[in-house]
Amino acid sequence: MALLLRLTITALQTLPLLFSLGHAIPLEPTRNGTLSSRATVGPKSVIVQMFEWTWDSIAAECTAFLGPAGYGYVQTSPPQEHITGTQWWTDYQPVSYILTSKRGDRAQFQSMIETCHAAGVLVIADTIFNHMTGNAEGSGVAGSTYTQFVYPGIYQAQDFHYCGLEPGNTIVNYDNEVEVWTCELEGLADLATDTTYVQGRLAEYGNDLISLGVDGMRLDAAKNIAPADIEAIVAQFDASPYLTQEVIWGAGQPVTPELYTGIGNVQEFRYTTALQSAFLGGGISNLENLSDQGWIDSSDADVFVTNHDTERNGGSLNYESPSNTYATAMIFSLAYSFGNTVSILSSYEFATTDDGAPNGGAGECSSTGGTDGWICQHRWAAVSGMVGFKNNVGSAALNDWISPQSEQIAFGRGALGFVAINNADSPWSATFSTSLPDDSYCDVISGTSSSGNCTGTGITISGGSFTASVPARSAIAIHTGALGTGGITGTGSGSSGSGTVSVTIEETATTTFGENIFISGSIPELGSWDTDDSIALSSADYPVWTLTIDLPANTLFDYKFIRKETDGSIVWESDPNRETTTVWSGSESLTSTWR
Ligand SMILES: *[C@@H]1O[C@H](CO)[C@@H](O)[C@H](O)[C@H]1NC(C)=O
Ligand SMILES: *[C@@H]1O[C@H](CO)[C@@H](O)[C@H](O)[C@H]1NC(C)=O
Ligand SMILES: *[C@@H]1O[C@H](CO)[C@@H](O)[C@H](O)[C@H]1NC(C)=O
Repeated sequence: MALLLRLTITALQTLPLLFSLGHAIPLEPTRNGTLSSRATVGPKSVIVQMFEWTWDSIAAECTAFLGPAGYGYVQTSPPQEHITGTQWWTDYQPVSYILTSKRGDRAQFQSMIETCHAAGVLVIADTIFNHMTGNAEGSGVAGSTYTQFVYPGIYQAQDFHYCGLEPGNTIVNYDNEVEVWTCELEGLADLATDTTYVQGRLAEYGNDLISLGVDGMRLDAAKNIAPADIEAIVAQFDASPYLTQEVIWGAGQPVTPELYTGIGNVQEFRYTTALQSAFLGGGISNLENLSDQGWIDSSDADVFVTNHDTERNGGSLNYESPSNTYATAMIFSLAYSFGNTVSILSSYEFATTDDGAPNGGAGECSSTGGTDGWICQHRWAAVSGMVGFKNNVGSAALNDWISPQSEQIAFGRGALGFVAINNADSPWSATFSTSLPDDSYCDVISGTSSSGNCTGTGITISGGSFTASVPARSAIAIHTGALGTGGITGTGSGSSGSGTVSVTIEETATTTFGENIFISGSIPELGSWDTDDSIALSSADYPVWTLTIDLPANTLFDYKFIRKETDGSIVWESDPNRETTTVWSGSESLTSTWR
């Protein structure tokens, strides 16, 4: 009995292939009205993927935060019965269409939909039409039992594909579309989606979700189902839910995202890869013309910086990416004009790729971040601030693009919003020309607009321009929906971010034998200025004294280095205090010399 990972095998799927057989199967003519409406989203086009969150905790978060913040959709984990186990991927091995999963039961799912709707948030269910389990036998979380290719009362042996193209019928060759569509994805029993019975059963499941009020579906492993099969299933739906399909582009492969755009939106993984390489050193100025890359059209694309697969498999930035790049890439994705929808992942910290959610899946957030292992990316001040930005600018055209160097970009969205992103290691001070009306705005990265006052940085546009300093590895963003005055000047502190970040401190200081260098600062982690609680640096790399310490994310603090003499007395560095704001995520370095 194989215990199989439901992981996306990006590396295999994206192997460059010199020759493509390219037997693209044309889609059947589209049924009138139904197809375009399956890609329709309202004015709020940001999806938050509440990965592994229970239905009860999603409902609470819709009311407490997601609705007020302007998120358009929550995407839930698959709601159907699946195999047992603690690993996250058990959710992706269906056992039956009973709506009981580790996330909750049918009544809780229904209640969550009603609560989210009342908060103005629509619901997308992750759905698995491609396969059942990879096991020889077992039982599901609702108690249903199965053996390989026999799911009593649902599917029998004739309802599965046995492609006969590879040993064990497992997909190996992504250059053969028949193999991609009819062999087994990582050994998971492959539903015969070309048969009337299976199509009808999957449509029945979809209609059950629709009857509960589900507004959209993410079609997991859509790439492994022939487009005509998906078309035949969704044509039987009682409504036209928003559809987004997982079709991972691979160089030279015959099964392309383009084959699926007639059905609904497609998750454009080329965008994910482009942001990863741009923010990790390729240069963000290269992101100017994403509509000209030969990808699917913006109106067909659901774009994301990371999802639950790529955050684990190296296929994207993730919460451990260095120098705040994960946060700044999300800022970019919410500011830029590419994509019909933008998906933001809300997930949890993991030590191994298999780790399931903490706390039994009951998501927990602090005011602007996560707690107890949850990351709550959707609450990061920069992310929720940019959701407001995106809702405000809507489809306004991109304009006023500037890029003085490869790691600094600024651009506007019509006369409604303007953003400057600095992926360099030093602040970017400049006068920016903008199409926004002269007025007083609140930077929505460092804070918000509260009763006409800015809680973060205030920015005044006069004569069509403004002067600002964009902090290193960060951004500023203003829009006509967040006006206000006052606020702090200089680098934005915002409020505390998500969890902690790893900070490496290097202070060059010459000492005599017996003298040691410590750091003392305004936050408890640095002793709250009590020198008895200051933190020692290591002299292993003398004369560079070093320390790596976890500090709270996105937090402004003051600090100084001190030298403890052999007699126990203390010498402080000269004034003024050093000051910095930690990054939202990942790690950073602070390098300085004794003064
Ligand atoms: C479109 O669909 C509607 C309802 O299904 C039908 O009444 C109408 O005739 C169709 N129009 C065309 C041009 O096929
Ligand atoms: C984007 O397109 C414009 C217009 O064709 C061009 O001037 C600019 O150099 C392009 N930017 C990049 C990064 O290729
Ligand atoms: C906003 O600023 C005004 C004037 O500076 C002040 O009177 C008012 O109390 C402030 N409001 C809040 C909510 O801080």
